[in-house]
Amino acid sequence: MSEKPVILVTRRLTDAVQARLQRDYDAILNPQDRVFTPAELIEKCQNVDAVLPCHSEHFSADVIAALPDRLKVIANHSVGVDHVDLEAAASRGIVVTNTPDVLSSATAEIAILCMLGAARRASEGDQMVRQNRWDFWSPAFMVGVETTGKKLGIIGMGRVGRVMAKRARGFDMEVHYHGRNRLPADLEQGAIFHAVLDDMLPQVDVLSLHCPTTPDTVGIMNARTFALLPDDAIFVNTARGALVDEAALIDALKSGKLFAAGLDVYSDEPGGNPELSKLPNVFMLPHIGSATRETRDAMGFRAIDNLDAVFAGREPGDRVA
Ligand code: DGY
Repeated sequence: MSEKPVILVTRRLTDAVQARLQRDYDAILNPQDRVFTPAELIEKCQNVDAVLPCHSEHFSADVIAALPDRLKVIANHSVGVDHVDLEAAASRGIVVTNTPDVLSSATAEIAILCMLGAARRASEGDQMVRQNRWDFWSPAFMVGVETTGKKLGIIGMGRVGRVMAKRARGFDMEVHYHGRNRLPADLEQGAIFHAVLDDMLPQVDVLSLHCPTTPDTVGIMNARTFALLPDDAIFVNTARGALVDEAALIDALKSGKLFAAGLDVYSDEPGGNPELSKLPNVFMLPHIGSATRETRDAMGFRAIDNLDAVFAGREPGDRVA
């Protein structure tokens, strides 16, 4: 029997990451990248010392209750950990880690893309050209809104939010933010803090979500909070679908309350929301905020660093439970 810890790797990772896992661990890979059902996940975890999952695997309290005592770590390949019941893991003594920092730039890039895609009607324009429907041009044609010099509101000024703010300053945007606490000046970089979300919303032209999903933030954007935005605002979500009441978002897009939305995340994933897909003023991507070659390598290595720490008897750098 191998003396190396046995690690279940639930999804296909980059070649470099898988090679390091195979070098240092008895790694069970998933080269076909098949999505496990909860029952399969439980079954595959039975003879392993750790699991390296993505946000696509749900470790609910029931799944965690069915894990073997030998499983010591859930080393996530994600910064978001809303797919893991952290309390249930902690009560079983299972260490849970995530991969912060390394995906902040990639995710902020996608948020900028979503903002611009929404503001400049990129989805409509792309489809028109692609489908051979572009037969007209005039100064009144496909007019969007400019984001340069406008006010950007950020909910959640953590690592990704701060990179988003930095990129937005390149567009001369005035950055406002709402979060649990005001940041120190060196992190705030002149951004305007709003302790109360309702005070910020009426002031911003673009709103971008960068907070984790917690009991306090689920549904933070709903019919009431969308109504507080100025007319013609742009809404961006690259964080998690659960932060938004999608029916309220659809109403706001249909009524013209919102000029447009740029979305990378949805309540139902994979798949998205067919009602949102029908709307021309939505620019949509399939949850690819961190999907760059560089970031996928970095996320995988960061997850392995956490595994290495646990199996060397050290505290992992990114422990969340
Ligand atoms: C994350 O890291 O949370 C991203 O959403 C990808 O899983």
